[in-house]
Parts: sequence; C-alpha cells; structure tokens
Amino acid sequence: MFAVYAQSFSSDNPLDGLVVGERPDPEPGEGWTTVRVKAASLNHHDLWSLRGVGLKDDALPMILGCDAAGVDADGNEVVVHAVINDPSWTGDQTLDPKRSLLSERHQGTFADQVVVPRANVVAKPASLSFEEAACLPTAWLTAYRMLFTRGGLRAGDTVLVQGAGGGVATAAITLARAAGLRVLATSRDEAKRSRAMEIGAHDVFESGARLPVKVDAVMETVGKATWGHSVRSLKPGGRIVVSGTTSGPDVDDAELTRIFFLQLSVVGSTMGTSDELASLVSLLDATSTRPLIDRTLPMEQAADGFAAMAEGDVFGKIVFTR
Ligand SMILES: NC(=O)c1ccc[n+]([C@@H]2O[C@H](COP(=O)([O-])OP(=O)(O)OC[C@H]3O[C@@H](n4cnc5c(N)ncnc54)[C@H](OP(=O)(O)O)[C@@H]3O)[C@@H](O)[C@H]2O)c1
Repeated sequence: MFAVYAQSFSSDNPLDGLVVGERPDPEPGEGWTTVRVKAASLNHHDLWSLRGVGLKDDALPMILGCDAAGVDADGNEVVVHAVINDPSWTGDQTLDPKRSLLSERHQGTFADQVVVPRANVVAKPASLSFEEAACLPTAWLTAYRMLFTRGGLRAGDTVLVQGAGGGVATAAITLARAAGLRVLATSRDEAKRSRAMEIGAHDVFESGARLPVKVDAVMETVGKATWGHSVRSLKPGGRIVVSGTTSGPDVDDAELTRIFFLQLSVVGSTMGTSDELASLVSLLDATSTRPLIDRTLPMEQAADGFAAMAEGDVFGKIVFTR
C-alpha cells in the first residue's frame, strides 16, 4: 500500500530519512480493526520521530502519523484514537506506563490503511469532514484535556495560552472560547497575534508582556521561554497546565517562592482518553467550532508539509488527504 515512512534518522536534517513510497498492507490482530485512511494530520511528534526521538533503529522502517480519520472495517466513519494501551490495562488510558502512540511501536496513519484496537475508534459525525476530524486525536485532544480535565476550567474563567501559533495552542484558544472562557494569548509574532484574535482570543500580548489581569490558569507548551511569565500571570491559587517544552525543559528560575506563597499548582497533562476524544467530537458536532487548518495536501506531497513544519511556517494544522 501507499505509505509515508521513516527510513532513517537525522537530528539535523530530519527530512533526509522521509520516504514517500510503498509498505506492506497491515494485518489486524485479534480485536483490532483496519481503518481506510481518508485524512491524516501532521504533528511535531512526526518530525521528532525523523530525528530519532521516541523511535529506535530496530523499529525502522516506521510509517509516520498519529492522527487519522477514515472508514473502519464495518464501513463506519471514524476518528482514530492514537494512544495504544497494553492489552491488560484498564482505567485512564493516558496513565498506562506501557502505552505508546501510533508510529512509535505500531505503524502510523500516513498510509492507505492503519490497524488499531477496536476500542481506539470513535464515531465521526457527518457534520465533521474527514479533514477536520483528522486534526483532533493529538493536538486538539491534548488541548481539551489540558483545559477541562487537568485545568478544571469552566465558563467565565480566564485562561492564558502561551505561544499562540502552535497546534496545541491554536486548539486551546478555539476550544476555550467555545466553552465560554475569557481567553488571553501570547505570541512573539505580530501576524500570529492577529490570527489568534481571529480564532477566538479576546486579547493578545507579546511573549513576556505584563498582563492587565491575573488569570485562573495558563496553558503552557513552550517551556523555558515562557515559564516565568506563566507563573507571574496567575491569580493566587491558580494553575499552570503543562504538556510541552518546545523551547526547552530547563527553566532558569522555577519561581518556587511564588508557587508556594501564592499556592499555585503545576499540573502535567498528556494526550487524552478515548472518552475525552468522544466528548471533544461531541463538542464540535454541537457547535460551529472547527479546527483551524493551515493547509491541506495530498499525502503524496507529505514532504512539503514536513518542510513547512520544520521551518515553523504554520498556523493551525497541516492535513494530508488520500
Ligand atoms: N504531552 C502531549 O500529549 C503533547 C501533545 C501534543 C504536543 N505536545 C508538545 O507540545 C509542544 C507544542 O507542540 P505544538 O505542535 O502545538 O507546537 P510547536 O510548533 O512546537 O510550537 C508551539 C509554540 O511555541 C512557541 N515558541 C517556540 N519557541 C519559542 C521561544 N523560544 N519563545 C517563545 N515562544 C516559543 C511558538 O509560539 P509563537 O511563535 O506564537 O510565539 C510556537 O508556535 C511541543 O513541544 C510538543 O511536543 C505534547
């Protein structure tokens, strides 16, 4: 079948190991189903894979891609949940120490077909296109869990989203606005700040700028570059929810004094459960909220999408279609 896969790793030139070609058809195991992929979306995770982060040599060649929407073996239109659990695991799927994401141990979604456990497909409503649905399983699900499960935010609360241009950040801005929150966002880039206003931010600021109000929670994916600002932006008793460290994990000053004195909480968040994915799909079905798609490319042109992401030339999601 047609597939986009990693053949080798390079930390400096990740696209060198990317192949657009053919791989054998996958065989579904007991309790698994085959999904015919109609659309798949790109995440930073796919670039990290080409750099050899999270993937081992003996896993190559590996079909890339965590996110997909398509048609399952019974003809149902579905969204694929990318978290693959150990078969013995019960409970919150994101807490399974043996979990992996599609394209880490099991072949990914940038292909004609992907096989997943039956529990990993969620019904796609007709109101969502395959392209929109394919944006949800990683960046949007991560933002959903950060805001509502780990952040505990509700209508009327105020949230700050750092690094407005990222996939998780654009999802967080859009979802927070849809849920009735007051949404502040930062970006280093003037153009991204205006785009953030268009997708739902009430107000935008340069990275590190003093805010006119303190917030109930900060959605943090940038790390080192914004950490101090995140801590200083919180109300007493507020919460930072962190799911990524794009600018690096080693902060110069963790602001521990402020954290204990103002009784702040620092909460980690990773991906989301299939129940949360179903709730996210329902939220979109019930509202006019839709993922912001930066560009849609035929999967044959996947290398162009990877190059755009590597250059940071993205606002919203890059989607590949079959
Ligand atoms: N834990 C999980 O389940 C999970 C899931 C998805 C993603 N992630 C992680 O979350 C992070 C975000 O991923 P993503 O794909 O949404 O976005 P991304 O493309 O990695 O970038 C996020 C944003 O970070 C900001 N940024 C980067 N370097 C910066 C710097 N030096 N100073 C200030 N801001 C900077 C940029 O915002 P501006 O240009 O607008 O300033 C950028 O748009 C990644 O590290 C990813 O690995 C984790």
